[in-house]
Amino acid sequence: MPREIITLQAGQCGNQVGMEFWSMLCAEHGINPDGILSEHAANNPADDRKDVFFYQADDEHYIPRAILLDLEPRVINNILQSPYANLYNPENILLSQDGGGAGNNWAFGFASGERIADEVSEMIDREADGSDSLEGFMLLHSIAGGTGSGLGSWLLEYLGDRYPKKLIQTYSVFPNSEETSDVVVQPYNSMLSLKRLTQNADSVVVLDNAALNRIAADRLRIENPTFAQTNQLVSTVMSASTTTLRYPGYMNNDLVGLLASLIPTPRCHFLTTSYTPFTTDGVDQSKSVRKTTVLDVMRRLLQPNNRMVSTNPSKKSCYISILNIIQGDVDPTDVHKSLLRIRERRLATFIPWGPASIQVALSKRSPYVQTQHRVSGLMLANHTGIASMFKRTCDQYDRLRKRNAFLEQYKREAMFADGLEEFDSSRQVVQELIAEYEACERPDYLSFDADSVSGAAPAAGGSGPRQSSMSDL
Ligand code: GTP
Repeated sequence: MPREIITLQAGQCGNQVGMEFWSMLCAEHGINPDGILSEHAANNPADDRKDVFFYQADDEHYIPRAILLDLEPRVINNILQSPYANLYNPENILLSQDGGGAGNNWAFGFASGERIADEVSEMIDREADGSDSLEGFMLLHSIAGGTGSGLGSWLLEYLGDRYPKKLIQTYSVFPNSEETSDVVVQPYNSMLSLKRLTQNADSVVVLDNAALNRIAADRLRIENPTFAQTNQLVSTVMSASTTTLRYPGYMNNDLVGLLASLIPTPRCHFLTTSYTPFTTDGVDQSKSVRKTTVLDVMRRLLQPNNRMVSTNPSKKSCYISILNIIQGDVDPTDVHKSLLRIRERRLATFIPWGPASIQVALSKRSPYVQTQHRVSGLMLANHTGIASMFKRTCDQYDRLRKRNAFLEQYKREAMFADGLEEFDSSRQVVQELIAEYEACERPDYLSFDADSVSGAAPAAGGSGPRQSSMSDL
């Protein structure tokens, strides 16, 4: 039975990343941009599971289980003018009536969720009812602007309340780590979103544009990448991390199973990713083919410069868990030898209170997409160094908040009309999250008590935390 996943795309970033993701998924399953199975794929059927991400209309064409939401029309109109215009179900596209976007205001985005709740819940319920065995939801968004962050936060709370037993995973683009941010109020928007990502999501894949731009420059030799180019990097990661679901083997056939090993404690569910080797058809220098053995790939995955997120780990930082998804022509004994070598060389430091091992899933590749590399790999890792990113957000937030800068636009929305407790509560939740990651680095982590974090107050506002562990889902 398929374990279907419904994808929700919110805001500019969410929809643009989604556009690349669906075009990659179509290519990998032999589906043409209009949703029709290509002749080649029809004549050469693959042992794949299209139904995890697509369903078939009465005329047999494949439709993504995707819901596209935005508060301004530009990006979705671009999608509707692209070759993929007829791929999506038009009933699953929602553009706000006034069309002005959320103006980088989380509060506006969140309040818009309440305004469009009936339409959105109708779409989500219809998609959920159309699944045989729904596994969960995937949210694509950025947390810096107003729509992806605010409406995205509303969606996380909504899904947590309405579908408490379903998995919620996000691909969240964090703001640039560089001091000069493109959105001046991004620390507010990020902080308010981080509370929901902590409390209402089961797993968050963290990405940031500084890291994506660096990888584009280093690996693809593209100095000033467009969003379309960085989004290809993101969609490669998304596609690789779902490959075991779409090309099932005897293990790792559902998302819960994949994530359970990565997330031993419910709150520490922020994952980093690395992928190697990246190439793009558009740039010749990026196509240099190196020898790709399993050991090369696993080694490169551990190199910090391949990480798609800009963290600044301390000496104590360590891995809570690692899952490598290796694709290609792989002899399982090579995997075993590579793991031994990595252990001998001490290439990865793990937490002192749990099993110290890299898990490996071998996965098939799409027969419809040609690649020059014998082996490629994705690493999904739970690393305590991610806390440095949250600390940076806290520092930037504290500086703005101390001056009470730019708060007027937030106070215009009902949620903040009576005060700014929601900001304080979010700040507290993130402080506790940082403390928990730091506690993970100590041998006595299992006796860690979040309420002992200094200044801890019960988090107010929003829906309650989602405290289930993966085994409850
Ligand atoms: P409003 O514009 O306020 O309605 O919200 P929004 O959610 O549509 O904003 P947006 O998604 O543009 O969020 C802004 C942040 O996302 C900035 O940090 C941008 O650099 C980043 N961003 C925007 N589009 C993309 C994209 O296609 N890819 C990536 N990787 N980042 C993006």
